Amino acid sequence: MKNQTSSSNSTTNGKLKIVVIGGTGLIGTKVVNLLRLQGHEVTPASPSLGINAVTGEGLQEALTGANVVVDVSNSPSFEDKAVMEFFENSNRNLVAAEVAAGVQHHVALSVVGTERLLASGYFRAKMVQENFIKTSPIPYTIVRATQFFEFVGSIAQSATSGDTVRLSPALMQPIFSGDVAEAVAEAALAQPLNGTVEVAGPEAKPIHEIVQIFLTAHQDPRKVVADEAAGYFGTPVNDQSLTPGENPHLGVTSFADWLSRTAPAR
Ligand SMILES: NC(=O)c1ccc[n+]([C@@H]2O[C@H](COP(=O)([O-])OP(=O)(O)OC[C@H]3O[C@@H](n4cnc5c(N)ncnc54)[C@H](OP(=O)(O)O)[C@@H]3O)[C@@H](O)[C@H]2O)c1
Repeated sequence: MKNQTSSSNSTTNGKLKIVVIGGTGLIGTKVVNLLRLQGHEVTPASPSLGINAVTGEGLQEALTGANVVVDVSNSPSFEDKAVMEFFENSNRNLVAAEVAAGVQHHVALSVVGTERLLASGYFRAKMVQENFIKTSPIPYTIVRATQFFEFVGSIAQSATSGDTVRLSPALMQPIFSGDVAEAVAEAALAQPLNGTVEVAGPEAKPIHEIVQIFLTAHQDPRKVVADEAAGYFGTPVNDQSLTPGENPHLGVTSFADWLSRTAPAR
């Protein structure tokens, strides 16, 4: 049973005290800025700032007086055992610290299709994270996003052998990190859903095509080959695996616009 919350989920001046776990990361930096722009009291929390959700260092102090905790942290290692330990330990510590601090809303960022990708150790760990959140006494909102535009280079890297990149032609619907951060910030300022929302980019295309467009824009000579057997980081995928369900929130930034801003000019 989740704690009851009400619209009084704020300080007397209507401003919230919000702690952003992973507030120095790609999404976290943007979420911190967006929430500060709206006048809220925002504390970024991460190991480089002396706050470690895995060991618990500095966590209880950081959460003192917090109304909302946003978790956009990520494991420094994606190795199966390391990533599971990261999400298990950080979420166990977060639940305990949030209960002790009387936090009224936990917002976390997860990945679209997590339950369809459990052949991957990373997604098994994200599933464990989601289950911690759903069974904790803290009201919550899970925001599930598709792959970030900024992650497409890593997808290419994971599938490269020599000058060839082998990737599944299954559909992917990637999204700009700035659009993800907007959705996370919006969730943090709304009432807890005790449920999940999905955010995705404006357009779905085959994975191998997206990666080829990215490499071409970066004048990278690698050639991408569509290969059903290659999967996504070796995990089998189909057109439903990485794409959202019905009525996702759609980011406004297209991949082409993002590339025209971020890829080096010829
Ligand atoms: N990549 C994708 O395409 C994708 C798609 C959907 C969802 N997601 C989810 O998005 C989330 C954020 O990803 P991101 O790319 O923004 O991550 P990121 O840039 O790698 O940043 C990771 C953040 O986590 C912090 N961190 C690391 N260890 C920590 C610890 N022990 N305690 C507290 N904070 C810790 C880091 O702090 P320091 O700077 O101090 O090291 C950093 O602020 C992840 O949960 C991921 O599953 C990713």
